[in-house]
Amino acid sequence: MNRRRLIIAIDGPAGAGKSTVAKHLAAHFGLLNLETGAMYRAFALKALRGDIDPDDSAALARLAVSTSIVLEATPAGNRVLLDGTDVTGSIRDPEVTQAASKVSVHPAIRAWMVDLQREMGRAGGVVMEGRDIGTVVFPDADIKFFLDASPEARSQRRYEQASGPVAVESAPASEDVSQAVITRELRERDDRDRNRAQSPLRPAPDAVIVDSTFLTLDQVLERIESIVRERLAEQHLGDEHLATERPRSTERRGATERLVQG
Ligand code: DC
Repeated sequence: MNRRRLIIAIDGPAGAGKSTVAKHLAAHFGLLNLETGAMYRAFALKALRGDIDPDDSAALARLAVSTSIVLEATPAGNRVLLDGTDVTGSIRDPEVTQAASKVSVHPAIRAWMVDLQREMGRAGGVVMEGRDIGTVVFPDADIKFFLDASPEARSQRRYEQASGPVAVESAPASEDVSQAVITRELRERDDRDRNRAQSPLRPAPDAVIVDSTFLTLDQVLERIESIVRERLAEQHLGDEHLATERPRSTERRGATERLVQG
């Protein structure tokens, strides 16, 4: 049978833990992890560098014509190349985060990104993570998750991340970050991502909704992995993924790793 390999879609709002979960799930089942938000971020970075207003759809569409964005899945995480240059380290700045949400509103930009993402995932064998993967990019994905959490839990996680050793969205780790600022920025982004006219953030009708508000990373992973295992067995989809499944004890997960990214 000439069927493509497995595609798992993970969508959800900022701070729900998508990136962390997608990374572990991909490692666990021997899949590539593709983080589509990084592509919108890279394009937003180019717009900011070129002094282009992220609300100016005509100027952004012109910019897109001469832009190349490549997402590479590496064992250490995703690398994003903007016009051939690695910008992975620059796309998490707070300014870029807000601009990414703004540029992603424009239909021409979304159409371009969706084409690139379909091309990247075409052969399957991927966990693709974003806002519209199960609804638009791969409506025929084999398994779809919508990872959610209350706004309070999501902003609390971001706040902890900001006060900890990891660089974050709302401020460099060294700054004294106000939780109120993080909460406000997260809400602004939520509003924009959920209410845009083109492919707003929402669960696909056939997505499994996982609310991580009161769950730890391990609990979320256990739940998601067991659903994947069941589906693979039911649909005889990915025997090779079941075979490569790694026992949890051999996975390297930091003791303090939490649902902080994504
Ligand atoms: O997942 P992230 O926070 O890195 O995404 C940054 C922005 O990109 C997000 O606010 C909305 C947009 N985005 C999108 O519209 N569709 C996707 N599939 C992924 C991200």
